[in-house]
Amino acid sequence: MTADAGPFPPGFFERADPSPDRDFYGPTRLVTHIDERAIDAVGSLYAELGIRGRVLDLMASWVSHFRSAPETLVLLGLNPEELSVNRQARGAVVADLNAGAGLPFRSETYDAATCCVSVDYLTDPLHVFSEVRRVLRGGAPFVCTFSNRCFPTKAIRGWLYSTDAEHCAIVARYFELSGGWERPVVQQRTPVGQPGDPLFAVWARKRR
Ligand SMILES: C[S@@+](CC[C@H](N)C(=O)[O-])C[C@H]1O[C@@H](n2cnc3c(N)ncnc32)[C@H](O)[C@@H]1O
Repeated sequence: MTADAGPFPPGFFERADPSPDRDFYGPTRLVTHIDERAIDAVGSLYAELGIRGRVLDLMASWVSHFRSAPETLVLLGLNPEELSVNRQARGAVVADLNAGAGLPFRSETYDAATCCVSVDYLTDPLHVFSEVRRVLRGGAPFVCTFSNRCFPTKAIRGWLYSTDAEHCAIVARYFELSGGWERPVVQQRTPVGQPGDPLFAVWARKRR
């Protein structure tokens, strides 16, 4: 937790497994982390938002869930083998978002950024959100989607002890506290009360 972590209580960003993320994500997992309907809800949202052009998929793996691939999709994740078999991608970078460095990209070079079922693993999300804002062009969206599943030893404690509605509020606060975003939009993208994995989305556009 950093000095600018805002109103989050002590321990919020700690995890049961504080070992380097590279170790945990070393073994290749060519699996999906949410069910087909939730995956379809991610693709539907990306299509609805008109995400295209040069797009950065953060905390990426072997699938990025676009209905049709953006012109240039760049992945950032931790497992090189998973990234190498992502058929929608044009490029990939292995980098640890919890290591404290900035994003290894020039400012204002992306038309959109996405982060699917992974925002709960960020230990310094305000720093990451600020960096995402830096690399996006004005008006470009950053789209965070998530469900109610996770690797519990790697998710932050604040997430594990929160409800779905609180998860949405937490991600909206990340946008507000990191600054420079339009008002975040919060939605449940899967039908309420139906079986299967729910899919929640919180996104905001970089202020022009
Ligand atoms: C639950 S998977 C989600 C993968 C993908 N976004 C998807 O929708 O299927 C979490 C992913 O986040 C990546 N990841 C976890 N911690 C990370 C970190 N500290 N920095 C960068 N990527 C990370 C892992 O490599 C893993 O692929």
